[in-house]
Amino acid sequence: MKCKKIILKQMYNGFPKKSDFEIVDEDVAEDLQNGEFLYESLAISVDPYIRAYAGAAYKPGDTVIGTALVRVTKSKNEQFQKGKLLVLHCGWRNGGKAKESDVLFVRDDMPASVPESAGLGLYGIAGLTAWVGWILVCKIKEGETIFISGAAGAVGNVAAQIGKIKGCTVVGSCGTDEKVKFCKNIGYDAVFNYKKESESLDAAIKRVAPKGIDCYFDNVGGSFSSTILRHMNAGGRVGVCGSISAYNETTPVLAPIVQFPIVTSELMLKGFLLRSYVSNYKEAYEDLKKWTIEGKMKCHEKVTKGFENVPDAFIDMLRGGNVGKAVVRL
Ligand SMILES: NC(=O)c1ccc[n+]([C@@H]2O[C@H](COP(=O)([O-])OP(=O)(O)OC[C@H]3O[C@@H](n4cnc5c(N)ncnc54)[C@H](OP(=O)(O)O)[C@@H]3O)[C@@H](O)[C@H]2O)c1
Repeated sequence: MKCKKIILKQMYNGFPKKSDFEIVDEDVAEDLQNGEFLYESLAISVDPYIRAYAGAAYKPGDTVIGTALVRVTKSKNEQFQKGKLLVLHCGWRNGGKAKESDVLFVRDDMPASVPESAGLGLYGIAGLTAWVGWILVCKIKEGETIFISGAAGAVGNVAAQIGKIKGCTVVGSCGTDEKVKFCKNIGYDAVFNYKKESESLDAAIKRVAPKGIDCYFDNVGGSFSSTILRHMNAGGRVGVCGSISAYNETTPVLAPIVQFPIVTSELMLKGFLLRSYVSNYKEAYEDLKKWTIEGKMKCHEKVTKGFENVPDAFIDMLRGGNVGKAVVRL
């Protein structure tokens, strides 16, 4: 079987460039050992962790890491028969051979109202991360004010919808006026564009959360998040999900000291990785599906078309070009 994959040609120097990647042909032998199956990729996910883990999880010459929504085309695996839709840890490939340990989620029972690529966003790593961050880490409660940075992104838009379902006042920040509009449309009570308000961040935070913040979903880290901590109410909880503000920096980012507000407001900060919550995947997926069927949860994605455009879609996402989950449909 003739397939294609995208390799990292040279290590990134700061922001990824198109010339850091190369598309190469791959011949995949079609004979299968017990447990193996062949697949075709239907959609590829471009995510911030792919940038953050460069050098550690993959190096120049390696296939770029990542997940794809795939369909099984030939199988010697009882569980994953021909036609099954899966989310696979297969890297940036348009097809190939895999086995059970490569499977992240089975996604052949998604509601008909969403596109199949929702397996990478709303029902993928992003959506489940939003659920874990609010339900298990911060344990948000009705009536609380909750703040989401990266408000319009893959994780952020699902976190906002969950917050509204749980009866919270949902506020946040994002990087363009178009995103501010999108956020208001999906139910945020108040949002600001942090790029426009960088000189008066404290005032912007006070404006959207005049009663203070009870829970913070931290997608960005850095000095922005240090500032948010000063606006948290006593006993506030922070789910530390990511620090995208630093992923493309070539020197370590210094942020203002955070210990003073943590101590004086007795805050709880907890870092979390979705992969540590495997036993909760089913419950999270069932909740997200139920809310979709009830009309309370929508799938939002930025779709790029064509395997050859995966690097462009990745770079665009890192630059903030996506509203909702950035996916590439093949
Ligand atoms: N802990 C986990 O298991 C886990 C799982 C999934 C994701 N994450 C993390 O969650 C965060 C969001 O991921 P996602 O998949 O939902 O990505 P995303 O928000 O869909 O896309 C990335 C967004 O980051 C924002 N951004 C880029 N540079 C920034 C900067 N310097 N400062 C502030 N924001 C910046 C951009 O939006 P703006 O236009 O708003 O700047 C961009 O659209 C990331 O930090 C990611 O690493 C963690």
